[in-house]
Amino acid sequence: MNHVLKNSIFILISFFVLSGCNIDKSVPNIELIQDMMESPAIKPQEYDAGSPNHSGMRVPPEGTQPQGFTPYRYAADFDAAKGNKNPMAGQYTEETLKVGVKYYTIHCSVCHGAGGEGGENNSIGAKMALKPPALTSAKIKGWTDGQIYHVITMGQGVMGPYAAHIPEKYRWQVVNYVRTLQQGQ
Ligand code: HEC
Repeated sequence: MNHVLKNSIFILISFFVLSGCNIDKSVPNIELIQDMMESPAIKPQEYDAGSPNHSGMRVPPEGTQPQGFTPYRYAADFDAAKGNKNPMAGQYTEETLKVGVKYYTIHCSVCHGAGGEGGENNSIGAKMALKPPALTSAKIKGWTDGQIYHVITMGQGVMGPYAAHIPEKYRWQVVNYVRTLQQGQ
């Protein structure tokens, strides 16, 4: 066999090996071992045995804070939170309420009901030993905005904290939306 032929066979074989045998680049490669190609995504409210709080929602490591984050002053004190002023008090414009509705619908309505009527009978409440209470109750009507904000921020009992999931400003808008639900609007 002459030299040129040997070399061209070698180049041809190298080409197939190096190209992964896939000449048509518009078709994705065949994935033989798929173990780490697609990692399972955990949904926010899913049970996760591997997480310290058994929830898909991660709590940020202690002592850390995201950039641009202002620490919550009343973290350990529900009574002091009573006086925490709502910077968006009385702002019931269409725009701010839309934000409140959005976050309430995503994060709260599954338990407390779309109208804040409580989770006695809804699909989540049925599975909980302690039913999510109504937010339209006389008790919560009597709370200050700061107290409602406190529970959203810190959680209460079996209800988890939402500080890491709803930005500060939007938490106040959720409070405003809860107020409109209380007025039956
Ligand atoms: C997984 C279900 C669940 C979700 C989601 C949830 N809560 Fe709760 N919430 C509860 C339960 C259960 C309680 C009662 C906890 C307790 O008192 O130990 C509670 C308590 C409260 C209370 C105090 C009520 C009272 O009578 O003491 C407020 C206010 C509240 N939630 C508001 C919210 C808001 C606003 C959201 C959304 C940001 C939210 N919750 C999301 C289950 C939930």
